[in-house]
Amino acid sequence: MKVILFGATGMVGQGVLRECFVDAGVERVLAVGRSPTGVQHAKLHEVLHDNFTDFSAIESQLAGYDVCFFCLGVSSIGMDAERYRHLTYDVTMAAATTLARLNPGMVFTYVTGRGTDSTEQGPVRWARVKGKTENDLLKLPFKAAYMFRPAGIQPLHGVRSKTGWINAVYAVTAPLLAYMVRATPNYMTTSERLGRAMIKVARDGYPKPVLESEDINAI
Ligand SMILES: NC(=O)c1ccc[n+]([C@@H]2O[C@H](COP(=O)([O-])OP(=O)(O)OC[C@H]3O[C@@H](n4cnc5c(N)ncnc54)[C@H](OP(=O)(O)O)[C@@H]3O)[C@@H](O)[C@H]2O)c1
Repeated sequence: MKVILFGATGMVGQGVLRECFVDAGVERVLAVGRSPTGVQHAKLHEVLHDNFTDFSAIESQLAGYDVCFFCLGVSSIGMDAERYRHLTYDVTMAAATTLARLNPGMVFTYVTGRGTDSTEQGPVRWARVKGKTENDLLKLPFKAAYMFRPAGIQPLHGVRSKTGWINAVYAVTAPLLAYMVRATPNYMTTSERLGRAMIKVARDGYPKPVLESEDINAI
């Protein structure tokens, strides 16, 4: 599989990138980001871009791919409503629309989160925005699209949050998190499980388009 990865510098994207390196079926990964990953690997190619609502300047580099793992995303905590909607909906749809046009046989996988509101009518703002993003992604003319909704994620294999204190919390609570992955699969997975599940679903398909944490852990 030839893969395009958005968000490779983030916690989820680092985990997906690591599993792409490990998986013999992944031939090439193109990381599209505004900052370099700092990672060296024979499979990895990078394109830096600064306008995430207009990909015309790099379009020629985005064709010929089988899969997109879209791991770019932000937390709504402390963020202005319009900025959150822009970074979640506008950026994701701009990238996905471009990729669907350039790669009609592509499988697109999007990382959202547990609690995403498919009705777009509920009381939680971030969940409505993610729900609309999922719903509109599912209408695009991809070969297939899958929405991954993890809850908590334990980072493994050196995957790190971009926030220092969060890494400290993950380090201190690692045994508890490992227990929770086993005991509460509805609420906890690992970066390894998530990355592997995204690759397997992209390769083999899945019976439904939306995967919750328990589905991810069962793959
Ligand atoms: N981490 C979790 O436990 C968790 C759980 C459930 C769901 N999720 C979801 O998974 C997705 C990724 O989360 P994460 O934890 O990996 O986030 P993260 O560590 O903060 O990484 C965010 C990624 O998005 C990129 N990004 C952010 N703003 C951008 C912008 N304006 N333009 C271009 N790129 C931008 C970042 O690039 P830069 O390096 O350039 O900033 C980075 O690659 C989010 O949608 C989140 O809701 C995460």
